[in-house]
Amino acid sequence: MISSPSPWLPTLILLLLSLPIIIFFTSHILPPPPPPISLPDELADLALFRRAAAVESHSTRKPKSRLGSTNSKPKIAFMFLTNTDLQFAPLWEKFFNGNKSNRNLYNVYVHADPTVRPEIKSPGGVFSQDRFIPAKETHRGTATLIAAARRLIATAIIDDPANQFFTLISQHCIPLHSFQFLYNTLFEINSHQVAELKHLKYKSFIEIISQDPNLWDRYTARGDGVMVPEVKFESFRVGSQFFTLTRQHALMVVNERRLWKKFKLPCLKPQSCYPEEHYFPTFLSIEDRKGCAGYTLTRVNWTDSVNGHPHTYYPSELSPELIYNLRRSNFVQPYMFARKFSPDCLNPLMDMADGVIFRD
Ligand SMILES: *[C@@H]1O[C@H](CO)[C@@H](O)[C@H](O)[C@H]1NC(C)=O
Ligand SMILES: *[C@@H]1O[C@H](CO)[C@@H](O)[C@H](O)[C@H]1NC(C)=O
Repeated sequence: MISSPSPWLPTLILLLLSLPIIIFFTSHILPPPPPPISLPDELADLALFRRAAAVESHSTRKPKSRLGSTNSKPKIAFMFLTNTDLQFAPLWEKFFNGNKSNRNLYNVYVHADPTVRPEIKSPGGVFSQDRFIPAKETHRGTATLIAAARRLIATAIIDDPANQFFTLISQHCIPLHSFQFLYNTLFEINSHQVAELKHLKYKSFIEIISQDPNLWDRYTARGDGVMVPEVKFESFRVGSQFFTLTRQHALMVVNERRLWKKFKLPCLKPQSCYPEEHYFPTFLSIEDRKGCAGYTLTRVNWTDSVNGHPHTYYPSELSPELIYNLRRSNFVQPYMFARKFSPDCLNPLMDMADGVIFRD
């Protein structure tokens, strides 16, 4: 009989050939876990947060703060959190500068992931170099997004005591109304009035939800029993990543240490890990639920959401009707911002800016 090749040979060849494919798939299905926040980064943040607290106690103790002595009107701090280009910068420029009389009513701060530093298209404009704060890398599904938001808040507290509202915005967000409309709404004035500092009465606009089918999975994302005693399940909340906080709440957030100890821990279940959607609503609901509206001013479309991402709007979906539709809310105030929009929406949005978006 002629010796035939081993029957194992084809199997072996097949196995060897498929090895690169197997390696490719496992490495893509299981990406390496993102690095935790390093001790030096954590200490640098702590120092920044302490400075914010010190600035605040200093300015409230002395009656002649910058705010009191210059009669400066209360401002809104716009805090842009981005890990890509600032794709809608021209639309935001128009939002801020459409009316020159708004110039002293806002400040802009940008936290841009240093690995993807956005190009600055208008050097002297709203997003000039000096509006970029010292930033660290951010990774989805980690506490780095909480840290970045707190860095923005602390910087804005220190930078200007006139900052009375702190609005977090992503690169995918667009405005749905004019600046003047937003300002008058937040400070509860009509166009003939002047905003006053009655901030103890103002509320933060942050979504706070206690009934959610995924809440338990998200609560146990770092392992069973890990969150207690600091965060009991009954206190655990979910809400909007993008919010508008009062100065009082902004200060509470940068002074917070207890919950952070737990929220900064890495997740074991990445598919249930959205720390930034829990930390702020949980903390503010524990500390001052009455001081929060319980809803956000930023419209997000969660219909058919995939992998924790909301619906992204593309140019073919844009129309004046969409803008009017997105503004509509079931709450006291209409929506002021919306996300997410793909970068190529910029030109059609610019075309609608004066006639639709900034016409209230
Ligand atoms: C600009 O804002 C001022 C103050 O709110 C207002 O009186 C004026 O009408 C605005 N101008 C335009 C062109 O919208
Ligand atoms: C929300 O997204 C869905 C698709 O995911 C779309 O059909 C619907 O029109 C969107 N709603 C609004 C108000 O844009």
